Amino acid sequence: MAEAPRQIAVLGSTGSIGKNALRVIAASGGRLQVAALSAHSQLDLLVAQAVEFSPRWVVATDIQVAEKFDWSKLPKGTELLMGSSELNRVVGQPQIDVVLAAIVGRAGLESTWAALDSKKTVALANKETLVMAGPLVMQLARERGATLIPVDSEHSAIAQALRAGQTAEVERLVLTASGGAFRHLSQNQLKQVTVAEALEHPNWDMGPKITVDSATMMNKALEIIEAHWLFDVPSERIEVAIHPQSVVHSLVEFVDGSVIAQMSPPDMRLPIQYALYYPDRVGGVAERLDWGASFSLEFSPPDPDRYPALELGHQCARSGGTSGTVLNGANEAAVGSFLAGELHFTEIVPACRSVLQSHNFESDPTLDRLIDLDRWARQEVSHWVFA
Ligand SMILES: NC(=O)c1ccc[n+]([C@@H]2O[C@H](COP(=O)([O-])OP(=O)(O)OC[C@H]3O[C@@H](n4cnc5c(N)ncnc54)[C@H](OP(=O)(O)O)[C@@H]3O)[C@@H](O)[C@H]2O)c1
Repeated sequence: MAEAPRQIAVLGSTGSIGKNALRVIAASGGRLQVAALSAHSQLDLLVAQAVEFSPRWVVATDIQVAEKFDWSKLPKGTELLMGSSELNRVVGQPQIDVVLAAIVGRAGLESTWAALDSKKTVALANKETLVMAGPLVMQLARERGATLIPVDSEHSAIAQALRAGQTAEVERLVLTASGGAFRHLSQNQLKQVTVAEALEHPNWDMGPKITVDSATMMNKALEIIEAHWLFDVPSERIEVAIHPQSVVHSLVEFVDGSVIAQMSPPDMRLPIQYALYYPDRVGGVAERLDWGASFSLEFSPPDPDRYPALELGHQCARSGGTSGTVLNGANEAAVGSFLAGELHFTEIVPACRSVLQSHNFESDPTLDRLIDLDRWARQEVSHWVFA
């Protein structure tokens, strides 16, 4: 008997990951179906997606924007819900099999939490959830028996490579990093970087926040923390290698010295597809390597002076507790200020370091405490912005 289609809730369907996920679902020949979509501000696009995929629910998370919007073109069979709390309710619906958590930043925390709490399989693009609350999120997933599959290309690569051995046989994880848009600029040139320049990534087409995070290397810092909680590997055994081609998405070194890498062209549809079909592999729409052409792969260690964000990532993975939340909140606020023209590019990482150093560390915070601290960290960054 043919398997029933897997029902997917795409949270953040109007973003870069969300749109790529819909391409994967459209190409699935009916094996994957959209059960729910969510968007915050791009409601025209949300309606167009609803017309194409006929979900059971659409959730518009910004109530004020949603109430003023003309919903007359929404398909008849699709129920409209407004507000983030509705999203937390929808992810628990029995019809939904997999929740793709692709809302950007701290805003993705509660819906990811609600999905795990409802024992769903979560395809996790929203790394900020693990950065903020890694121990609590992993504990919830364990207690509920929920499955968490990473969508971040590096963590997807590691999850795939880990299938080659036992947990106790892992020596180290190596996260690859393209080096960002500015890897060839001097410190002086970095001070002049504009918003438009920071939004151009050499290899990946992503949302604005993660594109800026890639340029500062804060993205890799967040990924160190994410990898630490997801794979339970201590910070000192998580390394970063600069790999400008973004073909090797990360590596696992085992105790015997064997290194297993996952390779493919830089195309997020592959890790999304891997997570949505997990544990199966299927033919799909992602680009493939061309073995008829010559190509070279380079790796080099990152210069810690050039990429000071990396040490912040290691520090937060080592200390745990409240540090990840504070780093994440400060970074989101600093990136927002940079994008608004209120902070220089080179001040993003120092602002985050300063807020991290000034916070009163707690080793065992509750989720509510982390949410308070996220607010505090954002306010602290306001001292850094131009008058
Ligand atoms: N893009 C990538 O290739 C990539 C790779 C690895 C990991 N990730 C991770 O995936 C997540 C999404 O990244 P992205 O690049 O797809 O971001 P993005 O393009 O900026 O999209 C963000 C999505 O979140 C929604 N959203 C924004 N603010 C919201 C709020 N306050 N409440 C609810 N929804 C909100 C947006 O809705 P509207 O657009 O309708 O406002 C949009 O659908 C991030 O955590 C990122 O780190 C992304």
